[in-house]
Amino acid sequence: MQDELKEFSREELATFNGENGQPVYIAHDDKVYDVSESKLWKTGSHMQRHQGGTSLTEDIGGAPHGIEVFEKFPQVGILKPEKDPMDEHIPDLLLAVFRKIPMLRRHPHPMTVHFPIAFMMLFPVLNILYLVTGNKSLETSAFHVLVAGLVVAPVAMLTGPYNWWLNYAGKWSKIIAIKIFGSLILVTLILVIFLWRLLSPEILLQPSGARIVYLLLSLTLPVVVSVLGWFGAKMTFPH
Ligand code: HEM
Ligand code: HEM
Repeated sequence: MQDELKEFSREELATFNGENGQPVYIAHDDKVYDVSESKLWKTGSHMQRHQGGTSLTEDIGGAPHGIEVFEKFPQVGILKPEKDPMDEHIPDLLLAVFRKIPMLRRHPHPMTVHFPIAFMMLFPVLNILYLVTGNKSLETSAFHVLVAGLVVAPVAMLTGPYNWWLNYAGKWSKIIAIKIFGSLILVTLILVIFLWRLLSPEILLQPSGARIVYLLLSLTLPVVVSVLGWFGAKMTFPH
């Protein structure tokens, strides 16, 4: 039922203060009542203390009565929740979506980052396990894990700026610079290793100087994702 009621912003509500023939509306919690018919409100002020056109949720605690006094009066609308100053840049429609599905607010980036982190940590581990055991399927798995990383890293790179805009209003910081630069290094590294392995599938199988370079490159991936994750977590959990 409440969804069909008119929504009042605080500015709109303020115009219903009983002046110039306007009705007297007051808000309690998120409900707006028309109290124009009350003798005790018709001047627009109540007990010379409380003004019509305002939200009085906090003030009722000091009244000699409770909220039962509203029963006689029609609810004419609902009060729009006040915008947090941190949310100024977010359109109302998106804030309404977040109220319904709160996890969309904070989680898109933290949720998606764990995939590239896990894959990029696993890639060199599988390569080393292959070198230790000689089991070729481990090296093949490593390649598949790398491809998976190539697919999921861009997802983290897109949700990152989204969360940055959403929760930090896109405010520039050293951490953000590190994250953008680090992400670009990460995809470049993944792409180089991927193309190398694609063009020379035997690269890790035969002893050579190039194989050592390939292995060293693969070992940089866990370092880069750790740096990205470390600085990311510094933003999410500053203390
Ligand atoms: C310290 C502050 C307040 C005092 C001294 C006060 C006093 C009163 C008194 C004596 C009445 C009539 C008796 C009754 O119905 O119990 C009344 C009614 C009422 N009060 Fe208050 N009140 C105060 C604050 C508030 C606030 C903050 C609100 C709104 C959130 C409010 C809303 C009403 C309403 C809607 C009525 C019913 C009016 C009617 O039946 O015509 N009052 N108040
Ligand atoms: C593959 C690349 C990336 C990885 C692996 C990564 C990793 C992470 C991790 C682990 C967190 C902490 C999340 C948590 O523990 O809750 C985080 C947070 C964050 N990252 Fe990234 N990140 C990446 C790219 C980016 C990019 C490109 C940006 C934006 C320019 C970015 C901006 C942020 C922001 C703003 C947070 C804080 C999220 C919040 O508190 O709402 N990240 N990142």
